[in-house]
Amino acid sequence: MSATILDGNEISAGMREEMRQEVADLKARYNVVPGLAVVLVGEDPASLSYVKGKQLACEKIDIFSREHHLEANVPEEHLLGLIRELNEDSQIHGILVQLPLPDGHSESRVLNAINPSKDVDGLHPVNLGRMVRQEEGFLPCTPHGVKHILIRSGIEVSGKHVVTVGRSILVGRPIANILTQKGDGANATVTMCHTGTPDIGAHTRMADILIVAANQPNIIEASMVSAGTVVIDVGVERVKDSSRKRGYRLTGNVDFDRVKEKAAAITPVPGGVGPMTITMLLFNTILSAKRSVGFD
Ligand code: GUN
Repeated sequence: MSATILDGNEISAGMREEMRQEVADLKARYNVVPGLAVVLVGEDPASLSYVKGKQLACEKIDIFSREHHLEANVPEEHLLGLIRELNEDSQIHGILVQLPLPDGHSESRVLNAINPSKDVDGLHPVNLGRMVRQEEGFLPCTPHGVKHILIRSGIEVSGKHVVTVGRSILVGRPIANILTQKGDGANATVTMCHTGTPDIGAHTRMADILIVAANQPNIIEASMVSAGTVVIDVGVERVKDSSRKRGYRLTGNVDFDRVKEKAAAITPVPGGVGPMTITMLLFNTILSAKRSVGFD
């Protein structure tokens, strides 16, 4: 039997409509328009496209967004100076530095320069620490989006065995942390697989929920998934495809066509986790604007 498709665009659409109303209320009651600054360094084609998607999503719900596009070889002091300016800019409630940064830049120095109260990406050590301690901060957008896909699709997480493939600071490590916490949409037992795991399939076959963020096209084959598993594919990879006008197609980290015949539910790529990441960025930007006027 073919899996239920977990449609991130559909889940996002409902959430973004609620957010559009919240943005209108903030403007009417406090004369505050949530503002997001997106900092892009260099010309990585995927990053250019993600940044455009984020700005378009802001525009659609009337969040103010401003792009700062810097050359790949910009001196780090210049980049840090821009972040210091944005930290002080009262129009800006959220700052996002698109990753990866080009070679030669220190991601941690740059991310650590963002004021944690404007770190809507949730990647500053203060916010990651707050996440671990379950204190108020900002949750990283992709793991937060995955949690909402599960909740809004009515998938029980509590007591389940979640297996993650990938241990990045953007996805693998925070999702494992979030889903092991007590509370709704969490309380799971998590196994984290990574490049040092000898037989990944032995673990993934034991998953009730499998979350893959491994940056490798189609590494999860049907033989690695048991019948009835919920599969969340976080990967977005560009693979060459001369039959397409743009010369590539997007694919996830899971062999979607075969795995969907075994899974209970699965996210597509594109149209699964990607839109939810952007939705949670909008959510955090609005949250930051609300906090700036004294409530959340
Ligand atoms: N690159 C890929 N995903 C992300 C993300 O969630 N935030 C940032 N800043 N860069 C990314």
